[in-house]
Amino acid sequence: MPFKIEIECSQKQKDSNIILALDVASNSRANLFSKSLKLLEQVHVYICALKLNHHLVLPLGLFDRVRQILKLAHRYELPTIMDCKINDIGSTNRIIAENYYKAGFDAVIANPFVGWKEGLQPVFEVARALQKGVILLCYMSHEAAWEGYGQTIQDAKTDTRTLQYLAFARKALEWKADGVVVGATYPEKIEEVARITTDKVPIYSPGIGAQGGDIQSAARAGAHYLIVGRTILNAQNPASMARQIREEAKLRKS
Ligand code: XMP
Repeated sequence: MPFKIEIECSQKQKDSNIILALDVASNSRANLFSKSLKLLEQVHVYICALKLNHHLVLPLGLFDRVRQILKLAHRYELPTIMDCKINDIGSTNRIIAENYYKAGFDAVIANPFVGWKEGLQPVFEVARALQKGVILLCYMSHEAAWEGYGQTIQDAKTDTRTLQYLAFARKALEWKADGVVVGATYPEKIEEVARITTDKVPIYSPGIGAQGGDIQSAARAGAHYLIVGRTILNAQNPASMARQIREEAKLRKS
């Protein structure tokens, strides 16, 4: 099943559009692993997918403990996303994607700045062959995102001036990406991107809570999935926080 459909099914089945960013911190690797498993056990019923990044992959090892975390996520019927922001030349990008998919990830996040030919084309080829997903960065959630994603560019295809993130939204449609990432911290950008991508390319929004993004504004602007890390991970009761965010996201959508 294509990733876009897989996560849509999960969203319906779990009645949740919350993706947990499992960015656990600890000085001890054993502790990191056990904390990660415990958090996943606590919140899995309230989320529709799991996102990992280098917080866990670097200290725990991709084919070792990360693979075990992915297995647990799959046992809970949660699709898994590797937030690796692939950003190299094509031959290297291909290897990066192959390894993450082989370890059990269902989708990877990639950076469209590197372009198609000898850039992300090999990533999409691998993904399509394995029925896996590719989600593209469009406008990041942090303060300096405008320095790159917000630049005005001369679009080579149309020979008109446009904004970088709008050009990326169009590329996501053209390349048939499984999603685009637009920070919840910029609801007006979510709206602009949603007008281009419609429901063909779902919008993933990180930046809720800890980075200042608001569930209501992001959901109303058109975010399909909300990525949440620290607000859940650092809560006194992560399960009830995850449930609360899920309910709030549902309310705001209706
Ligand atoms: P917090 O703790 O802020 O975690 O809820 C957010 C998670 O999302 C990642 N992140 C991003 N990933 N594009 C991405 O692909 C972005 O613009 C972006 N902003 C935040 C972050 O690494 C963390 O895992």
